[in-house]
Amino acid sequence: MSGIIVSPSILSADFANLEREIQSVKEAGAGWIHIDVMDGHFVPNITIGIPVVKSLRKVTDLVLDTHLMIENPIKYIEPFAQAGADILTFHYEACRGDEEVKSVITKIKNSGVKAGISIKPKTPPEEIFPYLNEVDLVLVMTVEPGFGGQEFMHDCAMKIPKIKEQAPEGLIIQVDGGINNLTAKICTSLGANSLVAGSYIYKSCDYKKAIDSLL
Ligand code: DX5
Ligand code: ZN
Repeated sequence: MSGIIVSPSILSADFANLEREIQSVKEAGAGWIHIDVMDGHFVPNITIGIPVVKSLRKVTDLVLDTHLMIENPIKYIEPFAQAGADILTFHYEACRGDEEVKSVITKIKNSGVKAGISIKPKTPPEEIFPYLNEVDLVLVMTVEPGFGGQEFMHDCAMKIPKIKEQAPEGLIIQVDGGINNLTAKICTSLGANSLVAGSYIYKSCDYKKAIDSLL
């Protein structure tokens, strides 16, 4: 066991067959399922919302790793938690100041789910150091959030050791964007222990082979 959690992003899955697509990656070794929620404001794309999370909860026992790329995240924490999300990761940049970041984290924890904080490529890792003891997961974006299938930004991966150095024991460091067999190795060797991969897994013809090649 490598201890690395692979979280396939269903953004690149066949949306007409999500139950089957989730079952297939589970059988192929996925630890979690990554759900990309986009609101058309925080990012220039619209994807999945609360009813889809609720439906997926009924058909899988995999951890629903929910990535909120939305403005005003605090408003939607409880509905997503009630829908069955296990992890709620919000964007630091979607908050207007320290108070709001803390309130979102508190709200997530009070909703009984795990809390993640994410940073976009241009955000320095130092900005989230004050929250590392409060969250369960840090998501380092290695592309600009909004779309699957983009190219991995190497500079962003250099944030991983900086975060790891400051991280309390047990903090999950996740990367998302442009992850494939090569970039996965870069990230895990730098200290990441959770890999989100969308197009690399779902556009492959053998999900097991694709997932195995990330580890
Ligand atoms: C991008 C999303 C990612 C996306 C990754 O904004 O957060 O989760 O699905 O897709 P790939 O792995 O294709 O870069
Ligand atoms: Zn994502």
